[in-house]
Amino acid sequence: MTSSNKEPQKIYLKDYTPPTYRVDDIYLDIKVFNDHATVSSVLNMSREHDGKLVLLGRELELLNISINDKVLTADDYALDDESLTIHNAPDTAKVAIDVKITPQTNTALEGLYQSGTGDELMFVTQCEPEGFRKITFFPDRPDVLTEYTTRVEADKRFPVLLANGNLIEKGDVGDDRHFAVWHDPTKKPSYLFACVVADLAVMSDHYTTIEGREVLLEIYAVPADIDKCHVAMTALKDAMAWDEEHYGRAYDLDRYMIVATGQFNMGAMENKGLNIFNTSCVLSSPKTTTDERSFHVKAVIAHEYFHNWTGNRITCRDWFQLCLKEGFTVFRDQSFSSSHRSPAVQRIDDVGFLKAHQFKEDAGVLAHPVRPDSFVEINNFYTVTVYEKGAEIVRMIATLLGKDKFRQGTDEYFARYDGQAVTIEDFLSAMSVGDGRVLDFLAWYTQAGTPVLTGGFDVAGDSVKLTFSQQTRHVAGFDEPKALPIPIDVAIFHGESGELLAQELLLLTKDSDMFGFDGLDLGGVRPVVSVLRNFSAPVKLEFDYTDEDLVKIVQFENEGFNQWQAVQTLVGRLLFGKSDNVALLTDTLKRIVPTLMHKDPMLTARLFDMPSESELAVAYDKDYNPQAVKATRTALKEQIAHALADHVQVWYDSLPIVPYEDTPDARGVRLLRNVLFNLALTAKLDMTERTERQYTNATCMSEQLGALGAMIEFGLPNADDYTAQFYEEYHDNDLVIDSWFSVQAGADSRDVAFIKALMERADYDWQTPNRVRTTLGGLASKPTQLWTKDGISLYLSAVARLDVINPVLASRSLSALARWYTLSGDDKEMVKAELIALQQKASSKNVLEFLNNMLGDKA
Ligand code: PHE
Ligand code: ZN
Repeated sequence: MTSSNKEPQKIYLKDYTPPTYRVDDIYLDIKVFNDHATVSSVLNMSREHDGKLVLLGRELELLNISINDKVLTADDYALDDESLTIHNAPDTAKVAIDVKITPQTNTALEGLYQSGTGDELMFVTQCEPEGFRKITFFPDRPDVLTEYTTRVEADKRFPVLLANGNLIEKGDVGDDRHFAVWHDPTKKPSYLFACVVADLAVMSDHYTTIEGREVLLEIYAVPADIDKCHVAMTALKDAMAWDEEHYGRAYDLDRYMIVATGQFNMGAMENKGLNIFNTSCVLSSPKTTTDERSFHVKAVIAHEYFHNWTGNRITCRDWFQLCLKEGFTVFRDQSFSSSHRSPAVQRIDDVGFLKAHQFKEDAGVLAHPVRPDSFVEINNFYTVTVYEKGAEIVRMIATLLGKDKFRQGTDEYFARYDGQAVTIEDFLSAMSVGDGRVLDFLAWYTQAGTPVLTGGFDVAGDSVKLTFSQQTRHVAGFDEPKALPIPIDVAIFHGESGELLAQELLLLTKDSDMFGFDGLDLGGVRPVVSVLRNFSAPVKLEFDYTDEDLVKIVQFENEGFNQWQAVQTLVGRLLFGKSDNVALLTDTLKRIVPTLMHKDPMLTARLFDMPSESELAVAYDKDYNPQAVKATRTALKEQIAHALADHVQVWYDSLPIVPYEDTPDARGVRLLRNVLFNLALTAKLDMTERTERQYTNATCMSEQLGALGAMIEFGLPNADDYTAQFYEEYHDNDLVIDSWFSVQAGADSRDVAFIKALMERADYDWQTPNRVRTTLGGLASKPTQLWTKDGISLYLSAVARLDVINPVLASRSLSALARWYTLSGDDKEMVKAELIALQQKASSKNVLEFLNNMLGDKA
């Protein structure tokens, strides 16, 4: 190992320079053979700025190169591990290059790689962010947009040959081989390139855009899975219509293709006209897919579709601007999802995810701004901060502007920048056409850390005076934090009648400020003030509510999110010893559940949420004791369950299993049933028979897996039998078997040794990220097991193994350990020693950057 490997090179936003050459068009000829592939390319390049002609390439075997038809010799260029520099290149250069690659041994799943084996063997590409350079030499950066013509050739055992755009030619080449030529008329950056060589079935459909374009829709999957593509197909058509209606954006090609692959590092990829999806984000059927997963499938389908405008037609100037496409697109998919179920529940889920993962990232040593200003490995920045906090910023802008001005801003954005590679400043500039305050949101993109918003109110006569102040921790390595614009949605209710007296969106722009409400008809009673409604800003709220205020918010609010938040705040107080009035909470639940469960069963289910153990860990910056946190949490859970014991079984029994339907209410009932079930088991009620009945009578995977999960978690007598039976039933369905791994790995009743045994099974495939994530995710969800010598060794030995075969997956897995240094005494030293040991043997820059950041000044 060289020392330069240990200190990987940092890239800075401030060093950005525009490309020296543009690429007018590219012709690619990709030939896949049994044990290798060849790629011939012709790039027509024209000089734009002074400087060298540099092409990026990695793990390529250069066979031939010519410029303007003159063959180059080794003296004409310089070649290293990362790039090819051509000496004295002319201003107009037709660059023709042949390379050889080996997709068959590409386990990193970047570039062109083999996925699956046997009947399911296929070749797919993943180019974002820097995979195209593993296919051929190219200025592989998002601000070089060009027009692609792609010829794909392979053995006829792979009947499906796909690339971006429109099919313009196909035919035989003899030797049992055939080819297809695709042309993509829209200029795109290389990260959106895709091609597929496979033997797949296809589900087809059509969509006519608002502009009258007939679009062929195709979803490709292995024959056994093709009937599981209906949910995705419907979602795709819904998304196309939604984008026309809400953003005035129509699809722009004659074909939209989606390919499902079993081996994929992420959820899915928005390649122009040819999305490639992890099977877990496209396949769905009631029998094999839980409601939660199925809903996720729809969201990811929409997300990738929405990228066609936010990402593909308008793309990022450089990778620091990743949030330009991701934050906006996540906001768009959240809004889409919110039209398919109760918006309150959608918001609760999105905020729950943000708090559990992004707040944690922002509170640790991996904290970074939504738009980072430096990185070593861009793959390490596909983070919850870039995605979810990025979405929250767009949401704040949308909230501040209101519907019409927000649309005015997005229209302006699309009109101004279509076909370009732009920055966050460009985005804000377009969005601010109707309201200049939008420009101030730049600080949200450049500053790390979660702001703490503190507030309270005073009453005098008929006036209410609200005060707020904000504070963001100083994140090491960054400038002193400054005040951010924080939109705060406030409602004031009469303290007794619950009548809504005032509602307003406040904007806090200073460190602290005061906002007065006059002439309210308070009737001499303390009003109920409900703030940060719908989570109008991604902040930690510390508002001086009394316990009684919170109960009244649950009663009076017409905004489901803040009802849920009030319950959560009560739960938080009980957990952190700021209140001991459990009865206040359980009485509130007893009062509202019986009616709410029939009106909005999903929201009702969410009211029983309790922050997870790992979420609670965020509250500790030092002396974090996983055992103590778990003990407190379990004790409260049991207290709540016992207090509700008389009711839960009754509530459960009032929700009988009915024939399967995919509606928000039906999904809500299934979720609520599983939640109540767990509560009843926590209260030590005998649910054995009911569990078995739910398992046996299940109409769908949510019911079946809900029952199995409870049997395992609570160690019911027949758990092992049902676990074996489940495996038997679904052994040939990889995604269901993933759930089988997950539900066991994440169960409290299963220890580290058990997880280790799971990872030693023959069907535990290190090449398949979905499978690997089941056990690592399960272990990471149990801090009391994770932060032990055995837990950490198991986890890090897996990361070490992945470091060699799949660096992207390896470093992403490490993020679960980012707050290791908050542990106390011996635990902390033990983990530190393990991390340092890994740092010494790790080889990928992905893992090294992560470890260097994690150990940093804590080492
Ligand atoms: N751009 C993809 C998305 O969010 C995610 C992705 C990133 C996929 C990198 C693969 C590699 O939609
Ligand atoms: Zn995305």
